[in-house]
Amino acid sequence: MAITAESIAGLKRSHHCGHVNKGSLGQKVTLMGWVNRRRDHGGLIFVDLRDITGMVQVVFSQDVDQTAFNKAEDVRNEFVIAIRGEVRPRPEGTVNLNLPTGEIEVYASELRILNPAKTPPFYISENIDVDENLRLKYRYLDLRRPDMQRIMILRHKVNKAIRDFLDKNNFLELETPMLTRSTPEGARDYLVPSRVHPGRFYALPQSPQIFKQLLMVSGMDRYFQIVRCFRDEDLRADRQPEFTQLDMEMSFINEEDIYKLLEEMMAYVVQEAIGVTIPTPFLRLTYEEAMDRYGSDKPDLRFGMELKDVSHLVANSGFKVFANAVETGGQVKAINASGCGNYSRKEIDDLTKFVSIYGAKGLAWIIVEENGVKSPISKFFTEQELKQILKVLEAKPNDLLLFVADKPGIVADSLGHLRVELAKRLDLLNEQELKFVWVTRFPLLEYDQEEKRWISIHHPFTSPVDEDLEILESNPGNVRAKAYDLALNGLELGGGSIRIHSRNIQESIFKLLGLDNAETENKFGFMLKAFEYGTPPHGGIALGMDRMVMLLAGRSSIRDVIAFPKTQSASDLLTEAPSEVDQAQLQELCIQTVIPEEDE
Ligand code: AMO
Ligand code: AMP
Repeated sequence: MAITAESIAGLKRSHHCGHVNKGSLGQKVTLMGWVNRRRDHGGLIFVDLRDITGMVQVVFSQDVDQTAFNKAEDVRNEFVIAIRGEVRPRPEGTVNLNLPTGEIEVYASELRILNPAKTPPFYISENIDVDENLRLKYRYLDLRRPDMQRIMILRHKVNKAIRDFLDKNNFLELETPMLTRSTPEGARDYLVPSRVHPGRFYALPQSPQIFKQLLMVSGMDRYFQIVRCFRDEDLRADRQPEFTQLDMEMSFINEEDIYKLLEEMMAYVVQEAIGVTIPTPFLRLTYEEAMDRYGSDKPDLRFGMELKDVSHLVANSGFKVFANAVETGGQVKAINASGCGNYSRKEIDDLTKFVSIYGAKGLAWIIVEENGVKSPISKFFTEQELKQILKVLEAKPNDLLLFVADKPGIVADSLGHLRVELAKRLDLLNEQELKFVWVTRFPLLEYDQEEKRWISIHHPFTSPVDEDLEILESNPGNVRAKAYDLALNGLELGGGSIRIHSRNIQESIFKLLGLDNAETENKFGFMLKAFEYGTPPHGGIALGMDRMVMLLAGRSSIRDVIAFPKTQSASDLLTEAPSEVDQAQLQELCIQTVIPEEDE
């Protein structure tokens, strides 16, 4: 027999499920929620009733109310019900002190089935291993799981703490357009066709970069926005096509002001959201130092294992691979995987395969023993050379030293990633620890070998360091920027810069980037014009909110902290977006699609 949905009329919820406790003993309560589980014990039916605050045990007994008891027999998992009943102490031996409601149970005198439910495709429970695609298809059920609800609550708390803090610090939360021109953030744009202007397109913002700078020209002084950004790029565990930034901009400030404010803000947010005190000020590394010591511009500082340069020690050695690398302008660097002296050949081969992903042509190794070393390459070194190498790497017996010789970029990338991989294998990464670090003084430009031109590392509005202005034209590759990233546990949490606020410097940067006058005028004319009407010195930063919540929640995918995320291939499995549209819609927009055969 089909179960019909009953009305809520005349009932008013008195408590949330997780809030009924000893303090309510003897009281009559009205509860509403989802049936987590029903257990039939003959004369008694137990129902765990769940809502966002937790779970409470409801008991149906023939002795209390026969009608409610009979109805309870029909109840199944995920039915939405309302009950009225009396809070009683649980009998001795059935108390569960792990649950906030574990000392009581509610004896129901009335039951209403507000809505029956189909059997869900997976059991709604904490930390269960369900295929992610299934979770995403039924995301509304996935989000019923207590651990997912806790993450959403955490996300709310983080947003609220940010708003509270910035409000106190005189920031205005201002909105900027979603339908706009593309801003130069470097990824592909999501385009939106214009019906009114056939053949023209808006771009969804990759960030509100230009608008926030214009707000400074407008004298808004301090701006922030928790804002959705859109980038059509290759996705990874920490990248989504639409993601949320905490976007900020301030006038009349320098880098130090930004560091200090962000440190205070992060300390406040982490305290409010998860009750953890983080030490400030944060560590700082220049980009050069970070690359040199950790092989990464977002180093994980929860452990050591720094990269050591041994180029000068092996340049004249008999090991040709090393000597040649140094001679041809490359480097030889090594890390000390301390305590890994017992690694087997197979394990070392695995690591060699790992670094090859990053372009390393090999991974030379030395195992340090009580009386000497074991290594396929030690025979090429003099005793003095070997001694020096061990000294630089602070080697002790049972250490494994791992070397890569190559161009600096490959050495950094391969050893930088190997360092983190070893830390994972050695269990050196404490999930509880939050290690913030500022990475400063990024290079302003990098040369794109394919396009044969300079491109901005951050974005073209980033100010060069004052001392380097004079080499802007003669030696652009060596110009450093007033740009900084905030890294947290090996992830880029945010990035920003002090901006160029003079039209002249801005124009010479555009020229260096290979934009001619017409192109500059077309793309950025409105901005350059604005800069002629009195622009305050200004700067800002944007933090990735999804990444921040992911790290605070101790998760490893940002999909877990976004209510309705997209898959690796940018699809929404719940709504099945992107989807085809009506021919009529396309016609109205003057759009024809031409799909390459292999995609059909
Ligand atoms: P940037 O491009 O460095 O700077 O972005 C700032 C931060 O946004 C996060 N982020 C992402 N998170 C999830 N998915 C993505 N696809 C994604 N892309 C970026 C990162 C990153 O550090 N307008 C400048 C900021 C400024 O100069 O003020 C900007 O957008 O955590
Ligand atoms: P081979 O002389 O090729 O037998 O290599 C001897 C050792 O040096 C092996 O352990 C290789 O993995 C390692 N090796 C080869 N090329 C490199 C390189 N570019 N950097 C570091 N180690 C290397």
